[in-house]
Amino acid sequence: MELVTTPGEQFPAHDAIAWAHRMGARIPLVNAPMGGVAGGRLAAAVTAAGGLGMIGMGSAGSVRALQRELPHLRGIDGPFGIGLVDWVVAGEPRLLEVAIEARPALISVSFGEDLGWAARVADAGIVPATQVYSGQDARRAQAAGVGVLVARGVEGGGHGAVNASLLPLLEEVLDAVMVPVLAAGGIGAPGDLAAVLRAGASGAWLGTCLAASSESLLSDAGRRALVEARGDDTVLTRAYDVGMELPWPAKFPARVLRTGFTDRWTGREEELAMDAAAKRALTAALAADDPAVAPIDAGQGVGSITSVEPAARVLERLWAGATGSVVS
Ligand SMILES: Cc1cc2nc3c(=O)[nH]c(=O)nc-3n(C[C@H](O)[C@H](O)[C@H](O)COP(=O)(O)O)c2cc1C
Repeated sequence: MELVTTPGEQFPAHDAIAWAHRMGARIPLVNAPMGGVAGGRLAAAVTAAGGLGMIGMGSAGSVRALQRELPHLRGIDGPFGIGLVDWVVAGEPRLLEVAIEARPALISVSFGEDLGWAARVADAGIVPATQVYSGQDARRAQAAGVGVLVARGVEGGGHGAVNASLLPLLEEVLDAVMVPVLAAGGIGAPGDLAAVLRAGASGAWLGTCLAASSESLLSDAGRRALVEARGDDTVLTRAYDVGMELPWPAKFPARVLRTGFTDRWTGREEELAMDAAAKRALTAALAADDPAVAPIDAGQGVGSITSVEPAARVLERLWAGATGSVVS
C-alpha cells in the first residue's frame, strides 16, 4: 500500500499500519462483528475498502445463518473475520467449527469466561480475538493465547461490560499486555480514530459508524433511526434481553437507541421478567417491526452518522481525516 501523506507532521500510525499488513489488510480498521447487522455484504465491503471485514453472529447466530453469509466473501481480495458470542457457541458448538472451516484470518468469541476456544482457533492458523474490559481481563486473555485484544469502552454500541471509557481503558490494557490491542467504543469521527491511534492502539474495531452503511443488514427504518439519533440518545439496558428471555449474562447490558420500551423498563427488568403480558407485547411489537419498540444497538458515536453511505466512504473519511493519508 502506498501512503500519500499531506505535508506537515507525519502521523504516528505506523505500528497500526504494520498490524494491518500482518493481517493482510491495507488499513487497521475492522468492522465489529455486529449480529443482525454485519453480514457478508458489509464484511466484503470493508475488506474491499482495505480494512478487515467481519461477519457477526449475535444472539440469533447459527450455523445456518453463518453459511448464508459466507458466500458474499467468496473470491474476496483481502482478509475477513468472523465474530461469535460465547453463550451462542455453547448452545451450538458446531458454529465454531464451521467458522474455523471457513478459513478466516480472525475469529473473535466474546462475552465468555472460558477461553479454551482460543487455542483451537490458533492451532488452525487463525488469529483469536476477544473483547476485554480491564487490564486484568486482558492479561487473562493473553495468557489463554488470544492474539488480538479489543479494548471496548463503555461508550460502545451493543452488549458490553459497564466499565471505563475507551481512552483510560485503552491505556490500562496497553500497559497490561504485549499483544496488539484494537480500540472499540464510540469511534465515529476522524478525531476519535486519531486519538486511539496516538494512544497506541493497533487499529479500531468499528461498530455503530458502519451499522447504517448501505451494505449492512439493518432495515431502512433502523438506518433512518441511526441517522436521526444524537450522541445522547443511547441508553444502557437489560430490558430487551429480559423481555426476549435471551440468556445474556447480567454483567453485559446493551447500549441501544432510547425507545418508549427502554424508558418504561430500564431499571425495572426484574418486574419485566415476571410480566408475561409485557413480554408477549414485546414479542408482538418486534414481529410487527414497530420502530417505537424495536431494539437498535448504537454507541455514543451515533451522532456522527449523518447519512446512509457505502462502508468504503465511511472508512475513507475516517482514515483520511485521522491520518492525513489516503488509502490506495
Ligand atoms: C448493532 C450492533 C451489534 C453488535 N453485535 C455484536 C455481536 O454480535 N458480537 C460482538 O462481539 N459484539 C457486538 N457488538 C459490539 C461490538 O463488537 C463493539 O463492541 C461495538 O460496536 C463498539 O462500539 P461502537 O458501536 O460505538 O463502535 C455489536 C454492536 C452493535 C452496534
